[in-house]
Amino acid sequence: MSIEKVQIFDTTLRDGEQVPGCKLNTQQKLVIAQRLDELGVDVIEAGFPISSPGDFNSVNEIAKIVKNATVCGLTRAVKKDIEVAAQALKNAKKPRIHTGIGTSESHITHKFKASKDEILERAVNAVAYAKTFVDDVEFYAEDAGRTDNEFLALICTEVIKAGATVLNIPDTTGYCLPEEYGNKIKYLKTHVQDIDKAILSCHCHNDLGLATANSIAGVINGARQIECTINGIGERAGNTSLEEVVMILRQHPYLNLDTNINTKLLYSTSRMVSEGMGMPVQPNKAIVGSNAFAHSSGIHQDGVIKNRETYEIIDPEEVGVTESAIVLTARSGRAALAYRAKKVGYELTKSQLDIVYEEFLVFADKKKEILDEDIHQIMEIHKIDIKATA
Ligand code: KIV
Ligand code: ZN
Repeated sequence: MSIEKVQIFDTTLRDGEQVPGCKLNTQQKLVIAQRLDELGVDVIEAGFPISSPGDFNSVNEIAKIVKNATVCGLTRAVKKDIEVAAQALKNAKKPRIHTGIGTSESHITHKFKASKDEILERAVNAVAYAKTFVDDVEFYAEDAGRTDNEFLALICTEVIKAGATVLNIPDTTGYCLPEEYGNKIKYLKTHVQDIDKAILSCHCHNDLGLATANSIAGVINGARQIECTINGIGERAGNTSLEEVVMILRQHPYLNLDTNINTKLLYSTSRMVSEGMGMPVQPNKAIVGSNAFAHSSGIHQDGVIKNRETYEIIDPEEVGVTESAIVLTARSGRAALAYRAKKVGYELTKSQLDIVYEEFLVFADKKKEILDEDIHQIMEIHKIDIKATA
C-alpha cells in the first residue's frame, strides 16, 4: 500500500500566538515563518489580518517571503474580514483564506443568538465570498467537537458546494475522546456529499491532554490535514503539537501515513519558537523536551550504552538532537560513570572504576547531578591523569 501524505498546517503564528503573555513582532514572525517553510510545513497560518494593523502587516510580509508553503489568513464569516485577509495575502504565491463560524448548539444559541439555518447561510456566503478572491478556501466549523454530526455533515456538504477546498473540524474546547473524534471524521467521510472534493482537517485543543491522540485518530479515520503548533503552544492548554504528530506517523509506518516535514529541524525549531516567544519547553515534553533523550537510572543507562534501542524508540539525530544524554546521578551505575569518564578523557581500568565509583556515590549523594567538572575532581582525588589513561 502506498504511503499517503498528511498535510501539516502550522498555526504557531495564529492560534499559537494567542497564548497569554506571548507577543511576537513582525520581524520575529518572519524569522519563524521562514523556518517553518524550511521545516516543510504545507500551510502556514500567518495570522488573523483584521484583528489588528500589526497582524495585517505580519501576514502581508510573511506572504511576500514564503517560498513553498501555502500562506493562510484567518477570518470570521464576515465580509470585511474576508476582504482584509484577501488584501493581506495578495502577494502570497499560494494564498488560502480560512473562514468559518461556530456550529455547536452552545455557539449558535449563546454566541450568535441565531438559528441553524442562519448559521448555514452565513457559512455558505462566507465561503462563496472568499472564493471570489482565492481558489483555496478552508472552512472551519468552530466547536465541531461538540456539534451534532448530522448538522456538521449538512454544513460541510453546503460549503463544499460553495467551493470550500478544506473542511476544518476543530475540537475547539478539547472535549472529545480519540474514539469520538475519529468517529466524527469517519461519519463526515461517509455522510458529506462530494467529500472527495475537499480535505478533512483536524484542529484539536489540549484541554484534556488529548490533542495529539485526537489528531491521530482523525487521520486514521480519513482526515488528511493536521493543524498544529510548534511545542503545542496555543490557547489555554494549547494545540496539537507538530513534532508529536509528525514523529508518531514516522514511527508507525504501518499506518501508511507520512508528512513532508524535515524532522532533523524539529529540535532547533522548537528552541527558536520557545526563545522567541519566551515560552520555556517543559523538560519532559515528548520529542523536544530537554529530558526526551536523557537517561538517569542505572538500569536504563546500562541498556542504552549497550544498545540505544533498549530504551529509545527514536534516534535523537532524527529530530536534530546530537545524542542521547547519560545523566549522572546517585541512581547511576558503573557503566554510566565509565561512559561519561571516557567522554571527558579517562579510559578507566576495572579496578580504577571500582575505586572512583565509591567516590562518585559520595559526590552524587551531595549533588543532584554530576557534571564533567565533578568527574575531573574525582579523578584528581584519585590521581588518575587524563593523559595516563589505561
Ligand atoms: O479552535 C478553533 O476552533 C479555532 C478556529 C478559529 C479554527 O482556532
Ligand atoms: Zn484553535
